[in-house]
Amino acid sequence: MKDKKENMLKIPSHIGFIMDGNGRWASQRGLSRSDGHRQGAEALKSVVKACSQRGIKAVSIYAFSCENWSRPQAEIKFLFSLITQFAKKELKKYADCGYRVMFSGDLSQLPKTTQNAIKKVVDASKGNDGIMVNIALNYGSRQEIVKAVNTILQSGIREVDEQMIEDCLYTAGLPPLDVVVRSSGEKRLSNFMLWQSAYSELIFIDKYWPDFDEATLDEILLEYSNRDRRFGGIK
Ligand code: IPE
Ligand code: IPE
Ligand code: MG
Repeated sequence: MKDKKENMLKIPSHIGFIMDGNGRWASQRGLSRSDGHRQGAEALKSVVKACSQRGIKAVSIYAFSCENWSRPQAEIKFLFSLITQFAKKELKKYADCGYRVMFSGDLSQLPKTTQNAIKKVVDASKGNDGIMVNIALNYGSRQEIVKAVNTILQSGIREVDEQMIEDCLYTAGLPPLDVVVRSSGEKRLSNFMLWQSAYSELIFIDKYWPDFDEATLDEILLEYSNRDRRFGGIK
């Protein structure tokens, strides 16, 4: 990550985070996976704030995938209690300080207490004009695309085009996803925003998510600024 163009920092409009490595961060320290998730939530707080301060318009955060239901019941239970707490406390603060909060994913399968907490913050932040905090919860990109196509078919349309699909995704109305960042060293998207990331820059960092901080975000912005986005064209 060289700083040759440091004075020409490009700020992405929309950044996606695949927060990965909470479990490994914890086991490295002899802690429980729950401790890892708790520390991951702390990292998230500082990253969202830093994104807002740097003028990023939207941030999408992968918090729980459709495939994460295959984890042990106790971990799932803990994750939803953490997410509910996070909604009641942190997301409430976001709403109060002008951020907007939205969710992507099938929320109907979540515990009722989580659904209620989510609904409250989404409603409370509706009229705000700050950074959009989009939390992908019980989210899967393939499921999202299938849902979009079915919505279109149900309206009686027999042939779909790209715009129709775009308009039926959870992210309709958000700026294009400029960059996807994944922590923990894994180099895959794990069903995160496959449609939206068609031309996103992909940045993989070796750190585990709980170690992600403001300085890591700045390294990523620098790396993003040095990428040459061509969208199929030539310079
Ligand atoms: C990411 O950390 C959090 C969620 C997927 C909910 P992990 O729990 O996947 O941590 P690792 O990958 O096992 O280290
Ligand atoms: C991706 O992480 C999902 C979230 C960050 C919520 P996983 O840990 O579930 O992904 P895999 O299993 O390593 O692909
Ligand atoms: Mg993982």
